[in-house]
Amino acid sequence: MDKVIIFDTTLRDGEQSAGASLNVPDKLKIAKQLDELGVDVIEAGFPASSPSDFEAVRTIAREIRKPVVCALASATDKAIDVAWEAIKEAKHPRIHVFLSASDIHLSYQLKKSREEALETCRVMVARAKSYTDDIEFSPMDASRADPDYLHQVLETVITAGATTVNIADTVGYATPQEFGNLIQGIFSHVSNISEAIVSVHCHDDLGLAVANSIEAITRGARQVECTVNGIGERAGNASLEEVVMVLKTRRDFFHLNTGVDSRQIYKTSRLVSDLTGFPVQPNKAITGANAFRHQSGIHQDGLLKRAITYEIMDPRSVGFPSSSLVLSKLSGKHAFRERLAELGYNLQEDVLDRAFRDFKVLADKRQEITDRDIESLVAEDLRTATEVYHLDHVAVSCGNYSLPTATVRLIGAEGKSVADAALGAGPVDAVYKAINRIVGVPNKLIEFTIRSVTEGIDAIGEVLIRIESDGVTYTGRGADTDILVASAKAYMNALNRLLASRQTGREN
Ligand code: KIV
Ligand code: ZN
Repeated sequence: MDKVIIFDTTLRDGEQSAGASLNVPDKLKIAKQLDELGVDVIEAGFPASSPSDFEAVRTIAREIRKPVVCALASATDKAIDVAWEAIKEAKHPRIHVFLSASDIHLSYQLKKSREEALETCRVMVARAKSYTDDIEFSPMDASRADPDYLHQVLETVITAGATTVNIADTVGYATPQEFGNLIQGIFSHVSNISEAIVSVHCHDDLGLAVANSIEAITRGARQVECTVNGIGERAGNASLEEVVMVLKTRRDFFHLNTGVDSRQIYKTSRLVSDLTGFPVQPNKAITGANAFRHQSGIHQDGLLKRAITYEIMDPRSVGFPSSSLVLSKLSGKHAFRERLAELGYNLQEDVLDRAFRDFKVLADKRQEITDRDIESLVAEDLRTATEVYHLDHVAVSCGNYSLPTATVRLIGAEGKSVADAALGAGPVDAVYKAINRIVGVPNKLIEFTIRSVTEGIDAIGEVLIRIESDGVTYTGRGADTDILVASAKAYMNALNRLLASRQTGREN
């Protein structure tokens, strides 16, 4: 088989990242974008873990028709039954059952003998199989398990009906050669292995998740579990964009394909970053802001002569937006829409109108508008939550001889405008305190990041924040050429998400 199945677990393992918090509409947005990206399997969540996970998986199962929609279940009757309940309306449902296979987990955590665990694996896979044909089984912590026992587990679950067996390097401990040997050993020692797809699931604790996944592919694995931007438990999972682009860029070496449309990669990465509130590090392979920037004079010289001198991938092949001038204040809505379509955004009319209005405001301040600016404006409009309060006005006075003071005016229910003012330790603190005096919901700012979208002193500043209230985290994003306005927008965005989730009585 010359195809590698891309199994995306951004919505399950990715969401296990500390501080990530996605509500059901966010998860559906990401699932739709993963569908556009062309992944084969979307692991939508772990339905038995919380009511909101259940609802997210059920919503995605109803809406997504092309990829397989997978639900995770621990090896218990209840978790498997709930997983099926959540995905039974999917066009292509999969139940993914897991149980630890290493002695470390069996003796210290589960307090089960190997024999007991083996029997549980058999019974639980058979139970899942009674619901649907497509069954995946993961021996958790497989890379630290005794290989002989692991082979026994795999043979048992395949006999019981597993169609995919997923070898997990749960704690990111394996090295590429070791992990490759483990995969090769499975092909030589598990008698019925040809009846299942061998998958791998690698964590990045030692920075080896992508290398381990790729090595496993060279030894015969044909499904890779990965996440957008590599987010996930602890140091995260193998990054989807890196795995896909390794296979695509080095097709001469691997001779393998994926079904992913690589031009959708950048857009997907931005969406996941905006919705989770986790910025992408500038030097991140494939999607970092510097991934295609050439700083050294020698490199720039080579690049101008022939791109191939220093560029192994065309930035457009991953949908990377250009930073050269594309539109100006004279550009009309038609040109704006066309440019968006070229960037892969086909917006609904109301979102397009909002984005075009923002574009005109920006174009009044700046002569040159680049793809990256446009993309930042759209990210703002795509993210807009139900607005309980709208930020109408913000003014700040600060400096080295004055106390930072902010005045804000918000428009609340029935168009009522409310204004207030506050002093703060700094200008952002003053703005946030003034907003809090009006909104009046206790919350704590737990993360605040700011970056400029393009180079130059007049660049758009993009603020990503995370706030916590009653143990639930909410993310916010704001962009503006004025970074205090961007900060205020980000805070309003997070607060509106908090208020909206309380109004609907839904967990975030
Ligand atoms: O890391 C892991 O072992 C997992 C399993 C549930 C596949 O996430
Ligand atoms: Zn995992």
